[in-house]
Amino acid sequence: MKVAIIGNGGREHCIGYRIKSSPDCDRLYFIKGNGGTKSIGENIDIDEGKSDEVVKFCLENEVEFVIIGPEKPLVEGLADLLRNAGITVFGPSGNAARIESEKSYAKMIMKKYGVPTANYREFTRSGKSEAIDYLRAIPHPIVIKADGLAAGKGVIICKRFEESESAIKEIFEDNIFGKSGDRIVVEEFLEGEEATIFAITDGERYITLPAAQDHKRIGDGDTGKNTGGMGAYAPAPIITANLLEEIKSRIIEPTLDGLRKEKNSFSGCLYCGLMITKEGPKVIEYNCRFGDPETQVVLPIIEGDLLKLLYSCATGKIDENTVWYGGKSAVCVVAASKGYPENFERGFEISGLEKLNTDQYYVFHSGTIFEGDKLITNGGRVLGLTALLKENNIAKGIKLAYKGMGEISFKNIYYRNDIAQKALK
Ligand code: AMP
Ligand code: GLY
Repeated sequence: MKVAIIGNGGREHCIGYRIKSSPDCDRLYFIKGNGGTKSIGENIDIDEGKSDEVVKFCLENEVEFVIIGPEKPLVEGLADLLRNAGITVFGPSGNAARIESEKSYAKMIMKKYGVPTANYREFTRSGKSEAIDYLRAIPHPIVIKADGLAAGKGVIICKRFEESESAIKEIFEDNIFGKSGDRIVVEEFLEGEEATIFAITDGERYITLPAAQDHKRIGDGDTGKNTGGMGAYAPAPIITANLLEEIKSRIIEPTLDGLRKEKNSFSGCLYCGLMITKEGPKVIEYNCRFGDPETQVVLPIIEGDLLKLLYSCATGKIDENTVWYGGKSAVCVVAASKGYPENFERGFEISGLEKLNTDQYYVFHSGTIFEGDKLITNGGRVLGLTALLKENNIAKGIKLAYKGMGEISFKNIYYRNDIAQKALK
């Protein structure tokens, strides 16, 4: 079949690499892809936000199956438009994507259906002084979140009241999150270890993929600003078999059942961002799609036919036996441009990728572009190097990943040096 992947990040490159090896994949398009996706499919220069043009391209080129990578087109209802045009889509409806785009909606679902999460209160712009009074009265640390999308950067952790007071001013007066900050969620600070679990679902039944751990902060030791994600590893040993059963019965099943009861059934990849606390697993956030860079470690370690799995979900009847976990492990280190997640420069030549042995390494591109035959940096997160091991050995994976990183160079390269160390504790 002809498949199109929407998006231009490392996640989409990785999904494409797994789809490409399926015997069912005859032709692969990326809308619009990056410097890396070009080598496994055809990059189509249409902006993912231009939904009408995306639908038109898919119809004219007889695309039978579309996989939507990022949250923005999902939230804007691209899956609905494509389905209305008769195209099979992996990804939730715009309405179901609200579990990511409106934190207050996600919190309501969790509360109503008994899913464990941090206690919270909501405030809108007009309730600014009420929010400040509330924050003055409660113990810190606390977490303030923009209700709307903020590219993974809409969370402020405040250790003291003075910090939360200035956060409120930044959001409601200086408008740092734009419209996404019209409403905020103030929630209890959860202590514990984080993990990500993807539930792949047709709306009713689901399977989980191996658990991963992301590294959201820019600096070693989880310091500095939040980013889109600086590295990941899988499987995450914190998610034991017993804990996974608890996550399924207390989190994934009530969430999917709840959304069905709300007549807002979710099909696609339900991303569960979890905190494993002393009282058990709690949801930090849902996303309505695969995570980036977690995808770059989860998909390479599963066996089987990913295209069959995603297509079966999209057609309404998941085939649970299409993929399985066979014991591999992976570590992904993201190489960024110095200055990210704030100001950074683009346009530097990337070298050394040809030195990486393709059995052990996958380079998933994010911000790259070809200028002639030169590969050039074109974003904050430039690429992710995934080291893949046939056995479950994260310590070995770390060594391999950093050995590989030593081969890659571009001006202003920056990466964390402690990715996956948490797995060894
Ligand atoms: P989010 O964008 O919701 O994933 O939040 C970004 C990061 O902020 C998470 O990965 C956590 O590290 C942190 N975070 C979010 N909510 C909480 C919370 N309630 N307690 C502690 N840390 C949190
Ligand atoms: N890695 C976090 C995210 O995809 O939102």
